[in-house]
Amino acid sequence: MKHTVISIGGSILLHEEKTDYILKLAKMLAALSKEKKISIVTGGGWVARYYIKAGRSIGASEEYLDLVGIDVTRVNARLLIIALMSEGANVNIDPPHTVEEAAGLSEKHGIVVMGGTVPGHTTDAVSAMLASSLGAKVLINATAVDGVYTADPKKDRDAQQIPVMSYDELRTIIEKSGPKGAGPNVVFDPVATDIIEREKIETRIVNGLRLEELKKAITGEQFLGTLVR
Ligand code: UTP
Repeated sequence: MKHTVISIGGSILLHEEKTDYILKLAKMLAALSKEKKISIVTGGGWVARYYIKAGRSIGASEEYLDLVGIDVTRVNARLLIIALMSEGANVNIDPPHTVEEAAGLSEKHGIVVMGGTVPGHTTDAVSAMLASSLGAKVLINATAVDGVYTADPKKDRDAQQIPVMSYDELRTIIEKSGPKGAGPNVVFDPVATDIIEREKIETRIVNGLRLEELKKAITGEQFLGTLVR
């Protein structure tokens, strides 16, 4: 059975503390997992941002703040695991700590959910590493916007959504968004970009809050978002 790896941004997972989205998402994923093996990496979202900001203000190093972020991504993984269990999915109970462990778990579970691993990258990079480890040729990045834009759509009214782009074009946009420490938020992690380019993993960036579009991106239909290849 083919593997599909999905990176789900923490900001959409628990949107404004409402849990109806996570239940609908779990229902859709549980149904799709009957036809394909699914691996999911959950991000930290606003909860990670909240803790990282608090930690930074009281003197934590960036590396320690990465560990704080990782803890939150793992808590979000548990939340999605709970929702998937309530939908009757064959899912792992504890989020694995490494992509190797996750790849091993996917042999006995229809869906595997994990969070972050080690400091220095984001869960986008973890999902690219997992796709590489599983030999998956497609990676879905479910985020809170309709794909990649020419500029930040929140700051620039002329920003245009880009339907298809190359790995190099993605890297140029990421470089424009500048350096950063622990915590969000660039459109796609530069470490992840290097992996998807090296492994030629087609990456579909889609608004995960639009569940129909996310489903189309997973099943390979035409979707609203950005295709990177
Ligand atoms: P996220 O993957 O949520 O980061 O991890 P992000 O891309 O910045 O957030 P979204 O996608 O916009 O919601 C949260 C933070 O946890 C640390 C990083 O500091 C990251 O910014 N982290 C996460 C790691 O250090 N290693 C990991 O493997 C994962």
